[in-house]
Amino acid sequence: MSDDALFPLELVQQENHDAGPRQLGPGAVHVPGWLSLEQQRWIVERFGEWTQGPVPLRAASLPGGRRMSVRTVCLGWHWQPYRYSRTATDVNGQAVLDFPEWMVRLGKKAVAAAYSPELGVDESLVGLSDVYAPDAALVNYYDDGAAMGMHQDKDEHSNAPVVSLSIGETCIFRFGNTQTRTKPYTDLELRSGDLFVFGGPSRFTYHGIPKVLPGTAPDGCGLDRGRINITMRVTGLS
Ligand code: SIN
Ligand code: MN
Repeated sequence: MSDDALFPLELVQQENHDAGPRQLGPGAVHVPGWLSLEQQRWIVERFGEWTQGPVPLRAASLPGGRRMSVRTVCLGWHWQPYRYSRTATDVNGQAVLDFPEWMVRLGKKAVAAAYSPELGVDESLVGLSDVYAPDAALVNYYDDGAAMGMHQDKDEHSNAPVVSLSIGETCIFRFGNTQTRTKPYTDLELRSGDLFVFGGPSRFTYHGIPKVLPGTAPDGCGLDRGRINITMRVTGLS
């Protein structure tokens, strides 16, 4: 058996989730357990409000007509492949919800938590939280069997970091490289309450969600099943 089969890269690089925050690559930082259960429950309540509309949770259609298995509701700017707009022209034409002030503050705190000198983050990124001002969030809901293929977040006209928060069931997050959607990549678990920030040289890294692990949502997170992921972004649009 070849070394490659015996020690597949994604397993070799699997991290110890309980070891605390770590930088996977320059500007890509995983902070396990960043949100308390109380904060998670509060966000899940907000999610319940966002899904009331005016734009409902919907599975976006990809060019060619296939629908994503993940369903999304947006804040600040409505996202559809591969653009942002203020109205949901691909859903019901309604205006997108405002981007909440509390989420701007949370985004700044997230960047400050991730980009700390103790984690070896480059000094050009430390202090970025002062100017970080996300104006869009894609709030994804992963139901049974939902997954997301490898892609880059590149519909934004800005290279400001993406802030990702996970609530509910654990997923396998595949974090790759900036050149191809294939190996080398790292598979790590994103669990309820985890923060992941990717910016700097890692901002345009291919990433995806090969699977969500059913039945893994912790008691008290506000979700019995499924997974919510919030990615905050700076669109660079006005
Ligand atoms: C995304 O890439 O937009 C979502 C990632 C995730 O669900 O963790
Ligand atoms: Mn993405």
